[in-house]
Amino acid sequence: MNSFTFHNPTKLIFGAGQLQQLKEEVPKYGKRVLLLYGGGSIKRNGIYDNVIRLLDEIGAAVVELGGVEPNPRLSTVQRGVDLCRGEGIELILAVGGGSVIDCAKAIAAGSRYEGDVWDFYTRKATAKDALPIGTVLTIAATGSEMNGSTVVTNWETKEKLGWGSPYVYPKFSILDPHHTMSLPRDQTVYGMADIMSHVFEHYFHRETNTPLQDGFCEALLRTVIEAAPKLVNDLQSYEQRETILYCGTMALNGILNMGYRGDWATHDIEHAVSAVYDIPHGGGLAILFPNWMTYVLEENVGRFKQFAVNVFGVRAEGRSDREVAEEGIAALRRFWTSIGAPGRLADYGIDDSQLEAMADKATKFGPIGNFKKLNRQDVLNIYRSAL
Ligand code: NZQ
Ligand code: ZN
Repeated sequence: MNSFTFHNPTKLIFGAGQLQQLKEEVPKYGKRVLLLYGGGSIKRNGIYDNVIRLLDEIGAAVVELGGVEPNPRLSTVQRGVDLCRGEGIELILAVGGGSVIDCAKAIAAGSRYEGDVWDFYTRKATAKDALPIGTVLTIAATGSEMNGSTVVTNWETKEKLGWGSPYVYPKFSILDPHHTMSLPRDQTVYGMADIMSHVFEHYFHRETNTPLQDGFCEALLRTVIEAAPKLVNDLQSYEQRETILYCGTMALNGILNMGYRGDWATHDIEHAVSAVYDIPHGGGLAILFPNWMTYVLEENVGRFKQFAVNVFGVRAEGRSDREVAEEGIAALRRFWTSIGAPGRLADYGIDDSQLEAMADKATKFGPIGNFKKLNRQDVLNIYRSAL
């Protein structure tokens, strides 16, 4: 293990009926609230009305910014920054998924920064301050509700980039499994693919002596693998929604990866696809991760064997490590197909015409990944294998 300091300041409020706690939490930060949300799902499922009623009961002055896009856009962030400055906003309340929360983080840091908020994404500047953020999560996927990362798309330059900072961790996040019940099947599946991918990004690392961390990762993966088919067959199952919601937060809040550095190449590779084709993040990962695994397998066959045996229960006796490892990757493909995740770039109508441009974007800041360093040509090879 490496030396590490763990500090996650987000107050996690989990369970049925917990939305009420808005009345306790919001006044701690002020009464002038920017209510940020997406394309309208919260109006259709009633969450919006409940949030407005609670904010009303505490006498909050609410300014609204709706219409945050999936794969949130820089232009929306800039509108939010202007609103926060113009309206003297004291707290940003993000009600939605990772896109709304990531947008909130960008607005929060952008409103306390003199320059262009895109500077954070292009690594020209780092955030030194931010407005406080609270979240009401409506989809189990990114973990953004309890981490300091944000990913935004600049649609003019077709770049999708991310950064992280201790300043943009939400102060509090409210997670009620009921709030995820209205998610359609496809978004539910994308979310689960994203959750599993976050664990993969941790699990395939180069550090030694991480038995508990490995066990945590394997347990989380087995839990999703067990719950996912039940959930896609019964989208109204509170029990399965609860399980997956908890998994989503735990997969990317720093708990799993203490003492070692994960890989993260596949996320860069996927973000470049989303930047050009605006596809759902989890769908892109379901396509790319098995291809990344096959490409880097030789780096540490034993690690992939461990994954195959401990996560998918692949039988090891009488077979070579490589056979077992490959069977694990094949099992992952079969599992994702069985719950309805996409398997090839062609499933999104993506052909080979933009592969070079996407490989440029994925390696904009140099080689990517830590399990195996990948250069532009490696990324191109992975895209080709995923067509
Ligand atoms: O916009 P609305 O109408 O709300 O609809 C959304 C959106 O269309 C819908 N939805 C959300 N909750 C719903 C619902 N529909 C019905 N009922 C509900 N309860 O789902 C769609 C997708 O929402 P989005 O927020 O885009 O999904 P997700 O949470 O997967 O976020 C994806 C974004 O987060 C980034 C991704 O790259 C992508 O831009 N990521 C952020 C990370 C982070 N901050 O740590 C890490 C991730 O790896 C990821 O990169
Ligand atoms: Zn992700």
